[in-house]
Amino acid sequence: MKPVNIGLLGLGTVGGGTVKVLKRNADEITRRAGREIHISVVAARDLNRTRICDTAGIRLTTDPYEVVTDPEVDIVVELIGGLDPAKDLVMRALDAGKHVITANKMLIALHGNEIFAKASEKGLMVAFEAAVAGGIPIIKALREGLSGNKVEWLAGIINGTCNFILTEMREKGRDFVDVLKEAQALGYAESDPTFDVEGIDAAHKLTILASIAFGIPLQFDKVWTEGISGVTALDVAYAEALGYRIKLLGIARRVEKGIELRVHPTLIPERRLIANVNGVMNAVLVKGDAVGPTLYYGAGAGAEPTASSVVADIVDVVRTLTSDPENRVPHLAFQPDAISDIPILPIEDIETAYYLRLSAEDKPGVLADVTRILANHNISIEAVIQKEPPNGESHLPVIMLTQKVQERKLNNAIREIEALSAINGPVKRIRLETLG
Ligand code: HSE
Repeated sequence: MKPVNIGLLGLGTVGGGTVKVLKRNADEITRRAGREIHISVVAARDLNRTRICDTAGIRLTTDPYEVVTDPEVDIVVELIGGLDPAKDLVMRALDAGKHVITANKMLIALHGNEIFAKASEKGLMVAFEAAVAGGIPIIKALREGLSGNKVEWLAGIINGTCNFILTEMREKGRDFVDVLKEAQALGYAESDPTFDVEGIDAAHKLTILASIAFGIPLQFDKVWTEGISGVTALDVAYAEALGYRIKLLGIARRVEKGIELRVHPTLIPERRLIANVNGVMNAVLVKGDAVGPTLYYGAGAGAEPTASSVVADIVDVVRTLTSDPENRVPHLAFQPDAISDIPILPIEDIETAYYLRLSAEDKPGVLADVTRILANHNISIEAVIQKEPPNGESHLPVIMLTQKVQERKLNNAIREIEALSAINGPVKRIRLETLG
């Protein structure tokens, strides 16, 4: 059979890794795909840069539009990232009748609905395994392996940079700013570190996972997004003393009234496997009604791990090139006419447990006032630690864990606690999930 021709956009870390893996494992990949896969043309910004891959025998160009309109190209692989010009290139590739593979989480999270609509209209495939959790085949697992389940919830460590920072803070007692600088020097952080540390990158990935898990449209704007820049070394240490680890989690949960969609620092019991996912590694925990909890773990970034997902998509697309579009796995797991509009709940409607840290004046009755306010709002306390006031200071840190409560109720209670004259400054709150 005639080889399938690939047009590659981008020859950076992931593009270079993809060329390397396709060349190194060519025989095995051909045996799996049933046809030879040939990289016909690659667009790169700078043709003279030293690469991690060998580009011998590959036509190179600096014009990505030459790739998406090349009549020889069957599949366009978009690995340049960002929205501009990636979105236009993907739309042009679809207009030109080419299947598309992308690792671009932001593009899929923000414009996936439009991209899939065009692809469906044209009978084309758009695959994006590498967009979430790098080398972990989580899209495939959710879309295919778990298709017999009603997904109840999923929770993922889907940003390696934040996980590296939180791990260093816990293991070495280091401060957030200090570790962030190291993450940037090591090349883990996105070019704009706010995307990582403020949870935006994780929210892009959660948007995609939730859509596939629940059969809902991609709704990035409805994800409650909070990053880790406000987590202190002190909170990490108190959490540990109580038997918890702090992780940046992306959580999607189906509840009676709708779907919770949220990214935020979260205390999780240290006995959970996912609590022990450290450094830059990623993991996604998925709870299906039939299978129970399942955990997927691996490298969330890097040249070859991400290439592993890109190449798996290439093999998938090649295998199904000749099948009827109606018989292919739908882009978002559910048939396009079966995507449902289950509401995404506002953050005040979610229910979870909380870690609270307050600075209380060291005098009788203060703790009683605080616990009375919580009791008045029907909020049960699970644990309390009260520390000695630091030398010469009049206030001491009090740490409390609450049981599950609606966030609106907790906010009302916190407002009353903050109004007490014996409480200094704002009450620090971190959500807590048992993931049981
Ligand atoms: N900046 C991302 C992370 C890279 O830290 O996980 C992979 O998407």
